[in-house]
Amino acid sequence: MTQRHYDAIVLGAGAAGMMCAMTAGAGGKRVLLADHADAPGRKILISGGGRCNFTNIHTAADRYISGNPHFAKSALGRYSPQDFIALVDRHGIAWHEKTLGQLFCDGSARQIVEMLAGECTAAGVTLMLGRPVTAIGHGDGLFRVTIGGTEWSAPGLVLATGGPSIPKLGATGFAYDTARRFGLSVVQPRPALVPLTLGAEEALFHSLSGVSAEVEVRWNKTRFREAALFTHRGLSGPAILQISSYWQHRTGIGVDFLPDAALDWLLTQKRERPRMPLRRALAASLPERLAEALLEKLDMQGELGNLPDKALRAIQARLADWRFAPTGTEGFAKAEVTAGGISVAGLSSRSMMADHLPGLYAIGEAVDVTGWLGGYNFQWAWASGWAAGQAIAESA
Ligand code: FDA
Repeated sequence: MTQRHYDAIVLGAGAAGMMCAMTAGAGGKRVLLADHADAPGRKILISGGGRCNFTNIHTAADRYISGNPHFAKSALGRYSPQDFIALVDRHGIAWHEKTLGQLFCDGSARQIVEMLAGECTAAGVTLMLGRPVTAIGHGDGLFRVTIGGTEWSAPGLVLATGGPSIPKLGATGFAYDTARRFGLSVVQPRPALVPLTLGAEEALFHSLSGVSAEVEVRWNKTRFREAALFTHRGLSGPAILQISSYWQHRTGIGVDFLPDAALDWLLTQKRERPRMPLRRALAASLPERLAEALLEKLDMQGELGNLPDKALRAIQARLADWRFAPTGTEGFAKAEVTAGGISVAGLSSRSMMADHLPGLYAIGEAVDVTGWLGGYNFQWAWASGWAAGQAIAESA
């Protein structure tokens, strides 16, 4: 006979949901893990260019954006990158550090999905795929969830359905609607880790599509030193994706195109090589097409020796803080994650359970905690999933 009652129902078999289900299951609880997609972990499969950047060894709460900057500390402290690395090692999955503490599989992201699915099976988790959730109710201490026409009940319900970024992969705002219905508030969701668009007046930069440069990008006091990439719509690349999570509409960003340049580098060049054309001085440190576009914007040319120091200083200053006024982002269709989401104000940072409704949990990207690019978002999914799974395992 089909068992219709569980200790917990986890909605969303993504990174956070699988971690939560396997942890609660391993703790002896009966868990139903349901997803409307036909396969678990679809975002994991396409992550990190197919190799899944599964964690970052520099994980710390200050690399996350949230309405409460302290909220993520507890979960991140109790389930660390080393804990996930130990799991990956137990499964014999080879990995390497690429750059900036980012750990990737040597083989394929599929290994991570298989590892998590295998742990769920070993923990006795029931996996239900390809069926929509059509109703959710709560009463007498039980959540009742109708999935594929059948009603299931449990004292624990975990919202792990992620955010609306990349809707073509089955992403929805389901967690927000459900959270609101149960009295949790939602911080306005917005696309994050997303390319920025530039207006028609920046057509010159659009024509640089494909050109990239190592830059420092700034917005207010936040800065990132990584590559920026020009696209036919605007700006992308790791540095831009990072700053996009902080950027606010109708504000500008500053780009230092020569973050390693010495003070007064152009004046030094002028003294040492007065016959050198300005164009060549720039192209020595920048991709040639970019150097040409910047000079066109600066409306300046000639040999260094013929240009006044004042003009060269002005060029140095512009190149060190080139102002772009993005018109927007490429939206949820291109956003690697969603910032905002279920407000942490109503959740326990230790268990991820709603303060006012015992048994209701929210984890992963659905929650208003958004990590930097580079494995931080998966680490949040593992840590928050583990925290909720552990709390369910410990519950009566
Ligand atoms: P996730 O989105 O993984 O899972 C949610 C699950 O809920 C999905 O399986 C979905 O089908 C299901 N669902 C949604 N609505 C539902 C509904 N109504 N009913 C039932 N089920 C529903 N991060 C990182 O740290 N390193 C990386 O390398 C990358 N790379 C990367 C590449 C790309 C292209 C994207 C789009 C994103 C990344 N990320 C990343 C971000 C990372 O994928 C993301 O932070 C985690 O997958 C979030 O995990 P969750 O489990 O919270 O949501």
